[in-house]
Amino acid sequence: MTEIEGWNRVKLGSWPTPLERAPRLAVALGLGDDDLWVKRDDLTGLGGGGNKVRKLEWLVGTALGQGATTLVTSGAPQSNHARLTAAAGARLGMDVVLVLAGEPSGSESGNLALDAILGARVVRVGELSLPQIDEVVQEVAESLRSSGSVPAVIPFGGSSVLGAQGYVDAGHELLQQAPDLDTAVVAVGSGGTMAGLVHALGANRVFGVDCGALSDAATTVTRLIEGLSSGGRLPKLRLRLDQVGRGYSQLSAQVEDAILLAARTEGIVLDPIYTGRALAGLVAAVRDHDIRPGRRTVLLHTGGMPGVFGHRQLMVWAQKQLVEQRWSGA
Ligand SMILES: Cc1ncc(COP(=O)(O)O)c(C=O)c1O
Repeated sequence: MTEIEGWNRVKLGSWPTPLERAPRLAVALGLGDDDLWVKRDDLTGLGGGGNKVRKLEWLVGTALGQGATTLVTSGAPQSNHARLTAAAGARLGMDVVLVLAGEPSGSESGNLALDAILGARVVRVGELSLPQIDEVVQEVAESLRSSGSVPAVIPFGGSSVLGAQGYVDAGHELLQQAPDLDTAVVAVGSGGTMAGLVHALGANRVFGVDCGALSDAATTVTRLIEGLSSGGRLPKLRLRLDQVGRGYSQLSAQVEDAILLAARTEGIVLDPIYTGRALAGLVAAVRDHDIRPGRRTVLLHTGGMPGVFGHRQLMVWAQKQLVEQRWSGA
């Protein structure tokens, strides 16, 4: 654990997460059957699991150290980070307010339904830009302060230098499990996960796949790496940008194929926004010889399964399969 003055970590997850061999998926991709492993950061234990638990250990631990009583954060309607902030607050007896984009529909599902079950107060703000959502977050924090609470604002996606420390920890954990690691493949949203891994593993060993949450993921990841480092030359990132497709919330054919492939070769469920894109990026990287057979590749499963149930396009697809596959005898 890094010792930095004023930073505190509170345990929220179950560590280490498993590292599992994925031989059937490896062969389907054109790799050797021992080449591909999956780091199960979807099995982090709290509130349905996912990568944000590692960041929240630092963010919430530090907030508690500063006397916070209420966590305030923001995100997309199906934010996994918001759901896990709600779970962290519940676990620690803190109030949680989530400022989420979009309008209420009256038939909320996936992460949004879990936010309510976990007891968070949800404020829907319509279609605002990230800076506008940040303004609402500051207003909410101010109003909590004036009513006697001590709010802590947790950044969008949990991605500050402090939050990224959770993935510095994860990088060290992974190296213990796989000292011969060649490449770790990871979805990039708000950037902290990739930044922490790059700090721990070096830029050559981390392959990021941008999911389109930010307009310029490379700049954000670089800025976070800068914050984690004490000077020195900034590394050149391995960041694939071609899986965003028609936008963050839109399901492309490549991502749909990737989700079905992981599910049907390994029984692993990926999500349409992040981990499905990470695998689609890995498929493309093997095709381009950017990731090669005979070396140890690790796909980070960063969670997000509740988002499957909150994604209209994917649910419509699944319903269609169920209708078409009606049993009519063997
Ligand atoms: C399931 C999942 N995977 C990956 C990411 C990307 O992590 P980061 O925001 O640190 O880039 C997110 C971010 O929300 C996520 O929810």
